[in-house]
Amino acid sequence: MILNKLYFTRCKKSFSNRISVSPMCQYSATNGIPTDWHYRHLSNLLISGAGLLMIESTAVTSKGKISKKDLCIETKKQKNEFKRLVKYLKKQDNTPIGIQLSHSGRKGSSQIPSIKSNTPLKNKESWKTVSSSNLSKDLGWPKPKQLSIKGIEKIKKKFENSIKNSLYANFDILELHMAHGYLLHQFLSPICNNRTDSYGGNKFKRFRLALEIAKIARKIWPKNKILGARITGNDHLKSGISTKEAVEFCSELEKIGFDYVCVSSGGIITKTNMKQKKFFRLDFAKEIKKKTNLKVGITGFTNDLELADKYIKKNYFDNIFVGRPFLKNPFFLYNEEFLKKNGFRNAPSQYLRGY
Ligand SMILES: Cc1cc2nc3c(=O)[nH]c(=O)nc-3n(C[C@H](O)[C@H](O)[C@H](O)COP(=O)(O)O)c2cc1C
Repeated sequence: MILNKLYFTRCKKSFSNRISVSPMCQYSATNGIPTDWHYRHLSNLLISGAGLLMIESTAVTSKGKISKKDLCIETKKQKNEFKRLVKYLKKQDNTPIGIQLSHSGRKGSSQIPSIKSNTPLKNKESWKTVSSSNLSKDLGWPKPKQLSIKGIEKIKKKFENSIKNSLYANFDILELHMAHGYLLHQFLSPICNNRTDSYGGNKFKRFRLALEIAKIARKIWPKNKILGARITGNDHLKSGISTKEAVEFCSELEKIGFDYVCVSSGGIITKTNMKQKKFFRLDFAKEIKKKTNLKVGITGFTNDLELADKYIKKNYFDNIFVGRPFLKNPFFLYNEEFLKKNGFRNAPSQYLRGY
């Protein structure tokens, strides 16, 4: 049930419950470095009562940022600043903290959404993006440069470096972002990948880059720490990634030694057939849960906690990654009648007086 521990057999680690804070970009970094905003924002989320705090998508290299104000963990200065942040958070509470590593590919060089959403930068601060192919993301977006084999090798090195930096910064969990239309998804999806070399064509060739990076992560990330990925359960497009293919991909991650996947979907192009409603990704998560031994998380309109509890009991998935409700009110779990009834106590004792 939702307030039970989530235990990871392979690495003998656990989350204290099945509610996780989903990674959410804050567009508040300076030169890739967390700012005061992050200290304030993450301190709240750390004591939200969730069993896991996942920090926003963090670029593996400057040109892999989505916007200028994204976090980045590439340089010595950046890794030291992340170490400082994690140390500060860990002094307050022992909730496990994860980092999500990403490269934006053709979705990079974007305007900050609060200024103008889904818009490429057009000023001198913009940069040339890269992708699996030279197809632009949408009308009005520049064509990215198709990565050469040498370019792909460089990307792998960037991931390797940032995985090492995340370990140095003392994160508990490492998550690779393979969804939402970012670079690894751009290789995985036939909608975007029209290569004819060893990184495109049949599904195994499309899987290749993401799995090579997954193997690098598994090699570096200690066996006693949790390793996961955010994946695409479905592209919501006729010739895109199907759930059957998503299951095959997840099985490969399982073979490599991943502990969990968080099932997301959509995002490879702006307009898909995705319809967002309560637990709209349930069928994708259920299928992956049925066919693999990975722990399976689900995200997207999952904060009906009573229903989530029912689904967890039915073994449809293992945990929920909740996003926007935590932004609206980081402490909304404290007031959840269903959780109270079921003995929710995962709050600082000061906050539980009179609870
Ligand atoms: C402001 C904002 C920023 C987000 N940033 C990320 C991110 O960095 N990485 C990611 O995988 N998903 C990101 N997402 C998606 C969320 O993690 C989550 O999957 C999505 O909001 C659906 O969950 P919800 O219905 O509980 O909000 C973001 C969502 C929001 C609203």
